[in-house]
Amino acid sequence: MTGETGHELRGDYSRMRPDYTVDQDWEGYSPAQHELWRRLYRRQMALVPRYASDEFCDTLATLNFGEGIPRFDAINRMLRPASNWQLVAVPGLVPDLVFFDHLANRRFPVTVWLREPGEFDYIVEPDVFHDFFGHVPMLFNPVFADYMQAYGRGGIKAHALGAIEMLARLYWYTVEFGLIETPRGLRTYGAGILSSGGEIGYCVESPEPNRIGFDLLRIMRTQYKIDTFQETYFVIRDFEQLFEATAPDFTRYYEQLRGKEPYPAAAVLATDKVYNRGSGVRTSSSA
Ligand code: PHE
Ligand code: CO
Repeated sequence: MTGETGHELRGDYSRMRPDYTVDQDWEGYSPAQHELWRRLYRRQMALVPRYASDEFCDTLATLNFGEGIPRFDAINRMLRPASNWQLVAVPGLVPDLVFFDHLANRRFPVTVWLREPGEFDYIVEPDVFHDFFGHVPMLFNPVFADYMQAYGRGGIKAHALGAIEMLARLYWYTVEFGLIETPRGLRTYGAGILSSGGEIGYCVESPEPNRIGFDLLRIMRTQYKIDTFQETYFVIRDFEQLFEATAPDFTRYYEQLRGKEPYPAAAVLATDKVYNRGSGVRTSSSA
């Protein structure tokens, strides 16, 4: 099994079902792995109150993620009544269409393997800590949960239209690396940030990256970096904004964007709404 970039994936894909799901095999995790999970959890818990969105913090407080690697079936019993989503265990990254089909059916694929101790700060592929800590709390939020399903349906369509690259940028800049305005300043709801010890403070406090108001077509035209902290974050006002902006049929957006040069990850355009660092206050222009 190889990933989109062609490198060998590290999960065990030998025992999966046709939809790429496996059993979690919770009994198979070692005490050392549960201990590593607890260390990862403690580090993020110390940062989350300052940097994560209320929606994320409120849910996390009601879940018992800190004891060790969670049992997916125990979480599913809480998730079903909350938002009608279910977690399914997968060996690692799955092909685009498989992923979209799960999301379109309100199933979130969670990788079963945990990083090695030497990867405490950085992993190349998403592991169970990223998938679980970063994504699962947001699935309890009703508006965000509907957005994720709509994204899955949109993915199936984008695949048919040859527009996955454009749609993937939207996932990247919202689900993985999104920021949200709050009365207490900018916060994050993006799983790639929420599970990261370094980027969670960086995305809110560093003077380096651009923070730009959410703009759907702009995002679908913007490249991103997969091996460094992001050079640009996009800021939503609330999840309703995200849900409503993405509700229209994207077919004509793809047509509009097709063949246009993408913007580099660090670009700032005259039309961007640029935010001051961490303040949530918007300046009139970028200049
Ligand atoms: N409305 C989009 C389409 O028609 C689907 C979508 C919804 C995509 C939400 C992303 C997020 O393709
Ligand atoms: Co992720």
